[in-house]
Amino acid sequence: NEDTLILAFESSCDETSVAVIKNGQEILSNIVATQIKSHQRFGGVVPEVASRHHIEQITSCIDDSLEQAGVDYTDLSAVAVTYGPGLVGALLVGVTAAKTVAFAHGLPLIPVNHMAGHIYAARYVQPIEFPALALLVSGGHTELVLMNEPGKFEIIGETRDDAAGEAYDKIGRVMGINYPAGKEVDRLAHIGTDTFKFPRAMDKTDDFDFSFSGLKSAFINTVHHADQIGETLSRENLACSFQQAVVDVLADKTKKALQKYPVKQLILAGGVAANKGLRDRLDQEIQEFPNVTFIKAPLPLCGDNAAMIGAEAYVEYQRKNFVGAKLNADPSLEF
Ligand code: KG4
Ligand code: ZN
Repeated sequence: NEDTLILAFESSCDETSVAVIKNGQEILSNIVATQIKSHQRFGGVVPEVASRHHIEQITSCIDDSLEQAGVDYTDLSAVAVTYGPGLVGALLVGVTAAKTVAFAHGLPLIPVNHMAGHIYAARYVQPIEFPALALLVSGGHTELVLMNEPGKFEIIGETRDDAAGEAYDKIGRVMGINYPAGKEVDRLAHIGTDTFKFPRAMDKTDDFDFSFSGLKSAFINTVHHADQIGETLSRENLACSFQQAVVDVLADKTKKALQKYPVKQLILAGGVAANKGLRDRLDQEIQEFPNVTFIKAPLPLCGDNAAMIGAEAYVEYQRKNFVGAKLNADPSLEF
């Protein structure tokens, strides 16, 4: 059998996911067990609760993933796992499970960086061509990543405070929206108008960095002030004004990076890449760059999942980037 079948694991935050990926480009299965309901009443992810759920879910995720893919352990070429960044207790569940399968079945073990995995969700749209630029926007990260060749990731800009998804979740909480709030704020934004004109932080600075904490504070102050004087603000307009400010700075810095670096592709990935306002805006802006192909991670693969980990792992498999039993979780792993 010439096909490469990788069993991939993802457990860095609040989704337990196991996938079987063929030749780095075909998803045979991608089981995602979400724990969001358990965290919602706390308004965010509780690390201890997350670890317990991963432990409870991981075995059935493996069984379901293999069964749905119609493959057996003996068909596998390798095992891959997210080993960081993320919650240490959550990561350890995936790492331990992956090590166990790898050593029980004599398979090579491939360590995958979660953020590199997000970028490789784009691989399910079309092959990545280098050099490429990625706008990576998630609950924990907001960065512009330059990739000059496979396996090389250079952060050219990043947030100095909150991640974009984190800002969505925090202002969503003020609006009484359940965690994670991004999707609902996005929905409301499309019905509203940008009446509040919130600040666009660092929009004109001569770098590729972002800042969202000032926007978050401006939003919260506006809502609290209205509360004090007994005024009710339009939720739709609040959401729209917030989203416009986020999308403006993300799009402007991305354009600036495209002007400086002549890349072949722009990749949009991470949980916030599901944002319709952001996808539409970049669709427009990319028209100015006829030599750049814009690849949006497929909507079902924007959030955390093991299919993206399997796609990145295939690149590592070809480079024979294998590890042994000493692989450990690295909660603050960087590129
Ligand atoms: O990548 P991800 O699933 O987990 C991390 O690795 O952080 O990203 C989750 C984040 C959450 O903050 C969530 O609110 C945000 O992605 N998100 C969105 C949308 N869908 C999910 N933010 C804005 N608009 C959306 N449509
Ligand atoms: Zn993620």
